[in-house]
Amino acid sequence: MSMISEAEIEPRTQPTTEELVVVRDLVVEYPRRGGGVTRSVDGVSFTVNAGECFGIVGESGSGKTTTARAVLRLAPTREGTIVVGGQDVLSLSRRELRKFRRFAQMVYQDPQASLDPRMTIQQLVEEALVIHEPAMRAVERRARAIDLLEQVGLNPDYLGVRPASLSGGQMQRVAIARALAARPQLLVCDEVVSALDVSVQAQILNLLKKLQRDLGLTVIFISHDLGVISYVCHRVAVVFEGRIVETGTAREVIGDAREEYTRELVLACPDPDPVTARRIRSERLAASASGLPVPANTVAPKKVEKE
Ligand SMILES: Nc1ncnc2c1ncn2[C@@H]1O[C@H](COP(=O)(O)OP(=O)(O)OP(=O)(O)O)[C@@H](O)[C@H]1O
Ligand SMILES: [Mg+2]
Repeated sequence: MSMISEAEIEPRTQPTTEELVVVRDLVVEYPRRGGGVTRSVDGVSFTVNAGECFGIVGESGSGKTTTARAVLRLAPTREGTIVVGGQDVLSLSRRELRKFRRFAQMVYQDPQASLDPRMTIQQLVEEALVIHEPAMRAVERRARAIDLLEQVGLNPDYLGVRPASLSGGQMQRVAIARALAARPQLLVCDEVVSALDVSVQAQILNLLKKLQRDLGLTVIFISHDLGVISYVCHRVAVVFEGRIVETGTAREVIGDAREEYTRELVLACPDPDPVTARRIRSERLAASASGLPVPANTVAPKKVEKE
């Protein structure tokens, strides 16, 4: 990808050796209308260390979102174990689940869908604070909202503005501020830059790196774009049809992709150099002619996530 140079591939934070997320043999099934089930995740195992940015990459429908939602207990897990911060996520009591909802936050692809257009930025950030810190006094809340906006690189001048006046990148910053209002330790970012221009993508990715470093956040970062993943992630799991086909550092996975499918994802990364782009196109054509799955290199379709 155009914004990525070799020097930038190594993320700046150093993850610890403490395992914050441990997923074993995860199976997620959705009931199908008219009977039967769709097995969206089919025996996935991975761990994410505290302070790590762990990428999940794969083509559309491969089960990335479902895997992450299962970790947050937002998807119907059928089998397997999920331990987050030492707690068995599948057997949390209601009270524990409430605490867990603060511990782990999610940011989605389309910030516009999650921001009420009638509310000002201040109201939107304060709304998140009311949910997570109901005892906070109004004056403290305002100060904390300003702090949060600063943390995500938005000037307090935006407090009185409504989402419609913001760019896509600025809206995504507000969505991130709302997630941070909960003081989470785990942040799941689901295609958070897919709807943004490439130059804005880099700014949001840099913001995430900075937040990760400053707040010691652990991040699960989902994308269909290996270029984006390699820019922010320490390690990557490549998923295909609900299974992990490869895991490694971004450099390992991109540099010497062992699986055909991963090679296809690598080839799908847009390259600004026309000579390389031509070679990649011809390799893609050869691959599609051979009947291998060819992942799309376009932006993932915009869609509204429903809780
Ligand atoms: N709420 C749901 N009900 C029924 N099936 C679902 C639901 N959510 C996902 N699925 C199915 O599970 C499979 C995996 O979907 P998922 O959204 O996890 O893929 P993804 O890798 O995140 O794709 P994308 O890149 O398009 O976001 C798909 O076949 C999808 O149709
Ligand atoms: Mg998805």
